[in-house]
Amino acid sequence: MTKDVDRRVQFMGDRYLFYKEPISIESGEGVWLKDKSGNKYLDVYNNVPVVGHCHPKVVASLKEQASKLNVHSRYISDVVVDYSEKLVSKHAKELNRLKMACSGTEAVELALRMARVYTGGEGIICSSSTYHGNSFETIRMTVGPFEPEFRRVPYPQTFRPQKQGLSEEELTELYLEKISEQIQAFKKDGIKFAGLIFCSIFANEGLPNFSKDYLSKASKLVREAGGVVILDEVQAGFGRTGTWWGYELSGLVPDICVMGKPMGAGIPVSGVVSSTEISDVFHKKWSYFNTTAATPVQAAVGSTVIDIIEEEGLIQNAKKVGAYLKEQLDELKEKYEFIGDVRGPGLFLGIEVIDNKEDKNPDKPLAENLVESLKERYFLISNAGEHRNVLKLRPPLVFDTSHADLLLDALDHSFKKVSS
Ligand SMILES: Cc1ncc(COP(=O)(O)O)c(C=O)c1O
Repeated sequence: MTKDVDRRVQFMGDRYLFYKEPISIESGEGVWLKDKSGNKYLDVYNNVPVVGHCHPKVVASLKEQASKLNVHSRYISDVVVDYSEKLVSKHAKELNRLKMACSGTEAVELALRMARVYTGGEGIICSSSTYHGNSFETIRMTVGPFEPEFRRVPYPQTFRPQKQGLSEEELTELYLEKISEQIQAFKKDGIKFAGLIFCSIFANEGLPNFSKDYLSKASKLVREAGGVVILDEVQAGFGRTGTWWGYELSGLVPDICVMGKPMGAGIPVSGVVSSTEISDVFHKKWSYFNTTAATPVQAAVGSTVIDIIEEEGLIQNAKKVGAYLKEQLDELKEKYEFIGDVRGPGLFLGIEVIDNKEDKNPDKPLAENLVESLKERYFLISNAGEHRNVLKLRPPLVFDTSHADLLLDALDHSFKKVSS
């Protein structure tokens, strides 16, 4: 293993790897991954292979289209146009224009550019403790230096709220005030407001519980101030939440929506959908071309991913198995002092690891130990969230109740081990 790590560092430079003893993966099938020594791991982490690792239909469509044609988008390809029609049909009717890119980062960059061109503004609000990509602009937005064009607001949450002792309604108002404050701050500094970008379920923040009307109220504030609402569905999209899109859970339609990760089940493809109006205003100023985006191979695979999600009932599965897992995890929560909360929609669950139920301080080292302990039992999860103390469960959507039972057993064993 050390030899594998050394070779990786020798030729790739960094050691940004999971686990004290990283895994050398060789193959995957469904919810399973196999390492070089033949050990099988239950994958409770990867959302990109949304329809399961190496799904035969994905492999077949990739092979078929790659054998026929793959070319850039300045020719017309029915495969690409058909896919665009199919994908926008899964969205709210207002979101009817698709632009394709190759990564979530690129799609976020494009969405920011569209918001800025449409509004003529520059100022963007995002959440604290978020992540939207690895480009210069997205890093500046989330890691800094933020100002003057980027400002952050605390993400809404009920577990470790900004202020104690408030009702849910009062708390929501408090979080909304933070948005108004930043809109005002842009005004004061003479920066025209362009809009707000949030992940529709605040996944990287730690999957907090928040009021169902927070996003629609936030959108109202943003639109009244002349901005547009961008929701990032790179984590939430394609059925994970038990709905096609995370924004459905909050009952609102964004002005611009960003997709990525599971969109191509591992083939690099991402996209931005918007209204006709935003798309038209953008195109008056800019043409959009991306050499390896909107290609027939991306479209063929993307289309197959949508078909499989529907044929195999993966959205209903996410809802059903997610609800079962959550219910069982709630029982485990009662058994262990360091499990503070279990939350998240569909098959995207977070387990908040804390020092004790009274203080509720985040316990990142314990969360890390648990991730390692699960891996020793051949279960792959990770830790995420603002304090990196939230165990993140986000398996391919072909995860069924038998897999959930295996996971629950392993979690119980690992929880017991760290308690003793
Ligand atoms: C919410 C969100 N947006 C955007 C991105 C960037 O996507 P990519 O890594 O494909 O560039 C990520 C990646 O983790 C993400 O979580």
